[in-house]
Amino acid sequence: MDANELRRSFTGFFTERDHTLVPSAGLIPHHPRAPLFTNAGMNQFLPYILGEEAPSFPRATSVQKCVRVKGKHDDIEEVGRSPYHLSFFEMLGNFSFGDYFKEGAIPFAWELVTEVLGLDGDRVWITVHDSDDEAAQIWRDSVGVPADRIQRMGADNFWEMGETGPCGPCSEMYFDKGEGLGEGGGPAVGSPQRYLEFWNLVFMQYDRRADGSLDELQRKVIDTGAGLERNLCIVQGTESVFDTDELRRLVDAAARVTGRRRGDDPRIDVTLRILADHARTMTFLVSDGVVPSNEDRGYVLRRVIRRAVRHAHQLDVQTLVTPAIVDATVEVMGADYPDLARNRDFVVGVVTREEERFRQTLKSGSNILDAELDKGASVISGDVAFRLHDTFGFPIDLTREIAAERGVEVDLAGFESAMAEQRRRGKDARKGVEGDGEPLEEYREVVEQFGATEFTGYQETESKARVLAVVGDRLFLDRTPFYAESGGQVGDTGWLTTETGEARVLDTTYALPGLHGHRFELVQGEIVSGQEAVARVDVERREAIRRNHTGTHLLHWALREVLGPHVKQAGSLVAPDRLRFDFSHHGPVTREELDKVERLANERVLANEPVRAYETSKEEAERMGAIAFFGDKYGDVVRVVEAGDRSTELCGGTHVHALGTIGPIKIVSESSIGSNLRRIEALTGTATLERVREEEAILERTAELLRVAPHELPERVERELEQRRALEDELRALRRQAASGSAAELAGGAAAGVVVARRDGMSRQDLRDLALAVRDQPGVRAVVLGGAPDEGGVALVAAVTKDSGLVASDLIAEAARLVGGGGGKAPDVAVAGGRDAGRLDEALDRARAAAGL
Ligand code: SER
Repeated sequence: MDANELRRSFTGFFTERDHTLVPSAGLIPHHPRAPLFTNAGMNQFLPYILGEEAPSFPRATSVQKCVRVKGKHDDIEEVGRSPYHLSFFEMLGNFSFGDYFKEGAIPFAWELVTEVLGLDGDRVWITVHDSDDEAAQIWRDSVGVPADRIQRMGADNFWEMGETGPCGPCSEMYFDKGEGLGEGGGPAVGSPQRYLEFWNLVFMQYDRRADGSLDELQRKVIDTGAGLERNLCIVQGTESVFDTDELRRLVDAAARVTGRRRGDDPRIDVTLRILADHARTMTFLVSDGVVPSNEDRGYVLRRVIRRAVRHAHQLDVQTLVTPAIVDATVEVMGADYPDLARNRDFVVGVVTREEERFRQTLKSGSNILDAELDKGASVISGDVAFRLHDTFGFPIDLTREIAAERGVEVDLAGFESAMAEQRRRGKDARKGVEGDGEPLEEYREVVEQFGATEFTGYQETESKARVLAVVGDRLFLDRTPFYAESGGQVGDTGWLTTETGEARVLDTTYALPGLHGHRFELVQGEIVSGQEAVARVDVERREAIRRNHTGTHLLHWALREVLGPHVKQAGSLVAPDRLRFDFSHHGPVTREELDKVERLANERVLANEPVRAYETSKEEAERMGAIAFFGDKYGDVVRVVEAGDRSTELCGGTHVHALGTIGPIKIVSESSIGSNLRRIEALTGTATLERVREEEAILERTAELLRVAPHELPERVERELEQRRALEDELRALRRQAASGSAAELAGGAAAGVVVARRDGMSRQDLRDLALAVRDQPGVRAVVLGGAPDEGGVALVAAVTKDSGLVASDLIAEAARLVGGGGGKAPDVAVAGGRDAGRLDEALDRARAAAGL
């Protein structure tokens, strides 16, 4: 069973049992009480769990992407060293909101584990909370787990989402991976390597409040979570999650890009695992809208990227690693998460820039450290280590490692006291950027000396300016036409020339509020502070950005016209090649609504009204009903942008001068990014035309394949589908005929009313259906069928008639053990799995004996 089959079998099992399949929510949860990142399948159901909204369905199942870095559940330090921990993983789960409780959840889990996954029930251990006699009793009496494989635990079996929020006692399922892996005696006392926790059933009953007290929830909730990768590790019988089908490919990619081999050296293996894991975390986070920064989520993402780079760097890998591992992630996971493929270029761009920057940091830090080491001292002083850490973001453990290679120690006590001194001074106004590597102190000096940057970019795209300072790869000017990334609009790129040199500006961001930092790369000569410079924005790119920005305002206006004034912007991205707009709205936007939005926006474009921007007081802007952007802070003077006669917003971005220059606007996608949050992506100008051309080409190609004209395609495809349905019906009928024929034939071979036979190459489900058909033939009281299905392993099915006096699961219990498997208790129909098809005939003999033949 591979990852895909596991996702499908798990959710299929529950949808067959009346659960609604709910797609994964994004990694940025939107409920005010949710954690920083989505850390469990239950996050998206918080309104239901907390009783804020009536559930739209009583039962649900999902495959949820989760990140466990920062907060109550933080596994990042374990990654690489532990065979089972990941910072990004997928959680399979089933949920009940006031519907079934323990008595339902526990037997479901057991049935799925033993019958669908085919795990050997004898190797499964259960833990329950110290206080939970009820759960223990259900496991023992309803499911039949022997009492000595049910253990009690305290805090470990009480699951909580975070410091506050839903919680309750839980019951965990463990799989015994085998004696060689450590201490036995069950999960409560044995080794965690040996007893792998693979499914957690939480019986949600409380809401923990900030003062630590517990409120009863309105309704009892079942929240279960089974890590996809851990389950694969068991089903596929691998040593670690990193050897399962999808992660293995990422470890291989990490090996390729670092030029190292797995299995050569434990230190290398740890790095390869870290790269494989962090690749997914960074890819999914950026794709879900997080970008590296010095605060909140952006800061966590930055740490993840830098951690991966640092590990590669420690193996002396000098080339960029993140673009390739992100690419591999998109390739491996893109089919299940189509967003990844769509956002690929963006994600690769973000991580590449971050890695380049960090490698620069590592380099300047290394230079200073080398110079220090060349002095020949036997100890690196605490002050130097601190300066490296504080100014260059050079991690202390790296300083230690490099020094150690030259037999030099680092004065750690001195370093610690310099750190403590800094904390004591409390001068550090940075939020959460401890050791992040931005030389903020130097930026601050620039502002103190010269004031904020004058932005000329509303009027012109080329300005004369003076170079104020160069700090690392950032250059500061007194005035600049370069827009610094903000309000969703990306930073400008372009060129800088002085008398002595020329540089390419790769990006512009605020180094500090009001201070435009131009990230640059020298093309020739040199640029020094004090020089006169000509700053020239890449106009073509800027034009595209302007079209998209004004286009965003028109779409925002049109969405409110069509859907209502509850539509509020929740974030946006205005880039040269596309625009993205996130907004609050219940439920999907229909095709008709989208068409209408698009039509309204394009009508404004054709009306070609002028766009006006001006500054005014905040009060005046409010009076005019200007829409303020989500989360932005405004001073007393605000900038108002009127995009034609209908749209008025507060905005600092750059816009076209007349709506007509936006060109055609086309919405290309609409999706959910969380509960009550939608995202649209759209194109403008030439990008729209290119898109139309691409789609035309696809249509033409398809039409060619089907040998019809493009406008005849729908009718033709419909006809093809109809034909296919007819063929499938026919095939099904033939199969049924064949099955009933063979049921009769099998029944003919009954001895004392018992049929035992082998049928290879049939799926488990088909084998089960056949067994039922045989049982229902006259003169048959019991049937056992065994086979090696095409999908691998062994399947055993037993079925008995009500009055047979036989128990189905007893007939195949011993046979299942013989082929290395097991199954649950079941009176009438029992299904068991196994691995060793070589012993199937022998196993069937056992079944014959069990039936008394
Ligand atoms: N919320 C529980 C967990 O994360 C079960 O899904 O383990």
